Amino acid sequence: MLIQVDLRQVVYALSDALDLVGVNDFYHGKRVSLMAVQVARTLGLDTATRDELFNAGLLHDCGVSSTAIHQHLVEEMDWEGAQNHCEIGYRLLDSFSYLRSLAPLILYHHTHWRDFAHKDVAPEIPLLANLIFLSDRADALSAPHLGPELLMHKPAIIDTLAGYRGTLFAPELLDAFLETARADAFWLVLEPRHIQNFLGEMLGRSQSQTLDFSELRQMAMLFSRVVDAKSPFTAAHSQGVACLARLLGKLAGLPPDTQDRLELAGLMHDLGKLQVPDEVLDKPGALSSRERLVMERHSFETFQILSRISGLREVAAWAAYHHETLDGSGYPYCLGSRGLPLEARIVAVADVFQAMAQNRPYRASVPPRLIQVNLQQRVSIGQLDGDVVGLVAANLDACWRAAIDGEACLVTTTP
Ligand SMILES: [Fe+2]
Ligand SMILES: [Fe+2]
Ligand SMILES: [Fe+2]
Repeated sequence: MLIQVDLRQVVYALSDALDLVGVNDFYHGKRVSLMAVQVARTLGLDTATRDELFNAGLLHDCGVSSTAIHQHLVEEMDWEGAQNHCEIGYRLLDSFSYLRSLAPLILYHHTHWRDFAHKDVAPEIPLLANLIFLSDRADALSAPHLGPELLMHKPAIIDTLAGYRGTLFAPELLDAFLETARADAFWLVLEPRHIQNFLGEMLGRSQSQTLDFSELRQMAMLFSRVVDAKSPFTAAHSQGVACLARLLGKLAGLPPDTQDRLELAGLMHDLGKLQVPDEVLDKPGALSSRERLVMERHSFETFQILSRISGLREVAAWAAYHHETLDGSGYPYCLGSRGLPLEARIVAVADVFQAMAQNRPYRASVPPRLIQVNLQQRVSIGQLDGDVVGLVAANLDACWRAAIDGEACLVTTTP
């Protein structure tokens, strides 16, 4: 399978997914990106380097899936637990060949400038990583005042940052920052409607690539790892759903190309869960009606994110319909049987199966026979597709293995 994908759209989609972690503070990555690119211009860095900084700014916090950790990062100038998310982010980006070059920038984006003297790092990394750090801290200081008040706080923010010249930040970088940030426009552009203009301009410069399935899977795994890292409850869920969806596609006689796409849809189906606060996602008991509404937004958010990538529209739909039902009582589109292709029905069955097969801290995994009974009940009340559940019944052991050992399945199907 080959799909033409614009990497810019991939980075932007991932950045949208990461924005969800901020819950109410959207655009942190985008503002960091915008500041870094403006300072890079003052420094006279070339277009290719500015493009790298743009992507690194958008993705610099990809190691943060937890809303609680995000809170520390935006509220504290220098949080001692910060390095952990740098290492997670490094490993995530290093796993996808097209974004690998960004990984070192992410690894060092909270490293103090003076500490680089003791590190063995490629010569071009420290300044660029430090520029992300500086922009990130500038945003942490300015985000609470975004809006008409921000310019009132500009002198204090600049003073605070200037106090770290040579310690947290490289002197030449800080000087370039101060020169750039003298202009009110530097700050005004951080408001959401102006950010959109800036991003539109950058997105217009597409980076089109043809990705084969193993590269697309690397990309989808990157997305899924960000989600699965969010909660011990969801760890490995996406991979199990992906593996089972592929298997069911094969059992249904769908072509290999469709099986590949089903796997991608399974890997990314719960992306929107990044927006669900940790305490709701990890709540062991029943959700309140308000919490349920928050939770049920997630598949809608999945579609919003994935549909940004033009080569993946179909995958986006299959992924986002996983809580739709044949009787039209599902969410978020109330599609019903006429709007649900077989592939979407497969992902829905795989999702329910995997969730039950998984050990959860508050309950043991449900044995395969009981899962089958549960799925059958859902068929009888008009939720799940009877033919797909029939395939599960006829291949129960294989489905169980796929669901609980999704990672092994992904490895064995690698070409
Ligand atoms: Fe960070
Ligand atoms: Fe879901
Ligand atoms: Fe799910």
